[in-house]
Amino acid sequence: MNPLRSAILAAARSDRLRAAITTARPTRAVVDRFVAGETAADALRVARRLVATGFAVSLDHLGEDVTDTAEAGRTVDAYREVIAAVADAGLADRVEVSVKLSALGQALGAAGEHIAAEHAATICAAAADAGTTVTVDAEDHTTTESTLRVVGALRATWPWVGAVVQAQLRRTEDDCRALAGAGSRVRLCKGAYAEPGSVAYDTAGDVRAGFARCAGILLAGAGHPMFATHDPALIRPLTGRLRDTGRDPATVEFQMLYGVRPDEQRRLVDEGHTVRVYVPYGTQWYGYLMRRLAERPANVGFFLRALAGRR
Ligand code: FDA
Repeated sequence: MNPLRSAILAAARSDRLRAAITTARPTRAVVDRFVAGETAADALRVARRLVATGFAVSLDHLGEDVTDTAEAGRTVDAYREVIAAVADAGLADRVEVSVKLSALGQALGAAGEHIAAEHAATICAAAADAGTTVTVDAEDHTTTESTLRVVGALRATWPWVGAVVQAQLRRTEDDCRALAGAGSRVRLCKGAYAEPGSVAYDTAGDVRAGFARCAGILLAGAGHPMFATHDPALIRPLTGRLRDTGRDPATVEFQMLYGVRPDEQRRLVDEGHTVRVYVPYGTQWYGYLMRRLAERPANVGFFLRALAGRR
């Protein structure tokens, strides 16, 4: 992995740096580029605007790696609040939520998986009442097995629960085969975490090739693939394949992050594709922001200039 990317991903886990960066005032300009705001009302405002201009949305209440049960419970409350707001705004058919099991208690010791599964079920029940859906984000590889187990259990009641797989992991082609059944919503992304070579591909080329193979498996299946990438080298052949096969654009999604390549997001909608924008909101933006910086050196420059007060 590129050394700059590794260093930034390591910084994402540093409490000292987190404290320094989150209290620096100029950081706000950078945060605003990638994060909708701090409250459910902020998230709704952005979602409403995106839906009005042709996009679908997945709202992510920021937070991960919670260390106590009370905090996990507050995450559930935050999701219930935003799901109710989505329903009240009449947006449930276009706006869903994404959740991280680590924000719901997955790492709280031996009972962590059970706690997270119960909390995720509460969120799914609220989503079902509101008429929307839930996608369970993928985190680092130590959680993959547990997360897919929880998703499988949730799907027994709510078959629309979305799974996320990461092309950088060597196991993911097998996971795609297992997840490509009828109606199965699967988000395929490259993977945002620093992973050891024993479980993950190391070069950008290998990750991209893995993504293309996984995309082929999902497209050949009977599910609902959701391609989460900004990479033109992946998007171009995928759009070509969809066009050539005459596949109904409603049965496939492209997904991109709020603030990343907005012109490409627009172009895809204008071409008739379904594009869902992943919109994070909340006060716990540090880990999310650091992963976005790690993806693109140009963002680090933007960030450092902001910290130096020059933007
Ligand atoms: P890549 O990083 O190679 O970028 C390709 C091009 O896109 C760049 O050259 C640049 O032009 C542009 N670009 C990409 N990132 C940018 C940025 N931050 N700022 C500006 N330009 C940028 N990961 C994970 O581990 N678990 C998950 O659950 C999810 N969920 C998820 C949902 C959605 C909707 C998306 C789009 C992504 C995720 N990810 C994720 C993140 C994903 O794994 C990956 O880290 C990023 O999408 C970056 O990879 P790309 O495929 O975009 O390619």
